[in-house]
Amino acid sequence: MVRLIGLVGTNSDQSTNRQLLKFMKKHFVSQAEIEIVEIKDLPIFNKPEEIKVPESVQTIADKIEAAEGVIISTPEYDHAVPASLINTLNWLSYGIYPFVDKPVMITGASYGTLGSSRAQMHLRQILDAPELKARIMPSSEFLLSHSLQAFDEDNQLKDSEQIQQLEGLFKDFLIFIDIMKHLNHAHESNKKVAENFSWEEA
Ligand SMILES: Cc1cc2nc3c(=O)[nH]c(=O)nc-3n(C[C@H](O)[C@H](O)[C@H](O)COP(=O)(O)O)c2cc1C
Repeated sequence: MVRLIGLVGTNSDQSTNRQLLKFMKKHFVSQAEIEIVEIKDLPIFNKPEEIKVPESVQTIADKIEAAEGVIISTPEYDHAVPASLINTLNWLSYGIYPFVDKPVMITGASYGTLGSSRAQMHLRQILDAPELKARIMPSSEFLLSHSLQAFDEDNQLKDSEQIQQLEGLFKDFLIFIDIMKHLNHAHESNKKVAENFSWEEA
């Protein structure tokens, strides 16, 4: 069984992105084991002089290292990803490199019509930074618009077309993970490049 992390891209207690990941965990249970991971208790990144991350960050990093892929579901705040998600990614690229070559699928939910498309583009750009360097599934976007109305009381997505699209993208993601396993010849050197990269010398 494929083991995945579903990273909730917000510290909000009421999040339709969390609902979406919970829906995916249940809906795809026969294809993958998705562990929902929260970012809401992480401290604010303050670039500590000693390059050592807090235990709560290390725990998330270990989970990502052990997983075959990560689904990140992001809200959109002011046309960007939430500060809490950037905060998490800052920690996860500070002397630790769990995202290097890790397959990532991006989803997003938003109250409005555009369904987090700008936040998803922003997230792609961040994940391509030298110390993150994730393998982001190309040409794929799952945008859940009008997310406050999208779920029924059992947390099922109401719209069958949206379910169908998500099923297709998830199937593609599992294949993408498989393909990425073959594109692993530079993995050790990619990790070293991330480790040796320094913004002071950039
Ligand atoms: C400060 C602030 C800024 C927001 N900016 C956007 C935005 O740029 N685009 C958008 O679609 N929704 C925006 N929203 C609305 C929702 O937060 C957004 O739709 C979000 O994706 C919902 O995700 P959630 O249910 O997981 O919290 C904003 C909300 C707040 C509080």
